[in-house]
Amino acid sequence: MTQRIVLASNNQGKVREIGQLLAGQDMEVLPQSAFDIPEIEETGLTFVENAILKARNAAALSGLPAIADDSGLEVDALKGAPGIYSARFAGPNATDADNNRKMLAELEKMPEKERTARFQCLMVYMRHGKDPVPIICQGTWEGRILREPQGENGFGYDPLFFVPEKNCSAAELPAEVKNAMSHRGKALQCLLQALSHG
Ligand code: IMP
Repeated sequence: MTQRIVLASNNQGKVREIGQLLAGQDMEVLPQSAFDIPEIEETGLTFVENAILKARNAAALSGLPAIADDSGLEVDALKGAPGIYSARFAGPNATDADNNRKMLAELEKMPEKERTARFQCLMVYMRHGKDPVPIICQGTWEGRILREPQGENGFGYDPLFFVPEKNCSAAELPAEVKNAMSHRGKALQCLLQALSHG
């Protein structure tokens, strides 16, 4: 029987990528908006805490198993910022463009070798709202921050994230290439592996 799962996110970029990554699995993944579940406040100080808060909220309110992704960009020259605050880097209602502008301004004087960065993704699966042993998976993607946005694909910081192996930005990669190498793709592969073992 196809398993219905709720995805604890309203971020269109994440919902699209997780949908693509789970295509072909025996799962029907429904965004939490389908259940009118509001976004919960992300009060944790780590990605894993925030992912658990989101998954627990979605599982409790939907009565279904839930997947949550808490992710963000760590920039070495900014001592790991914006990290868990990536979505709100330029302020509480910041758009992706606002966040990218702030990132470029903060790194304006940084030379090439000090522009190293990585995306982190913490993916959590909770069978129900009181699941005491959630499945927790992590994925990391290494790159560098460009000096201007490049490309139209993806979302968030993708236009500024240079992928050395492909010699282009994450926003210049076709979706299937990004999904095969991204922090989110790696975390979700780990999750599928864990689910298939019981
Ligand atoms: P969250 O909803 O608190 O997990 O926020 C995640 C934020 O991290 C997003 O709003 C983006 O700014 C950034 N982010 C996470 N994953 C990606 C990605 O794959 N590409 C670009 N930005 C990302």
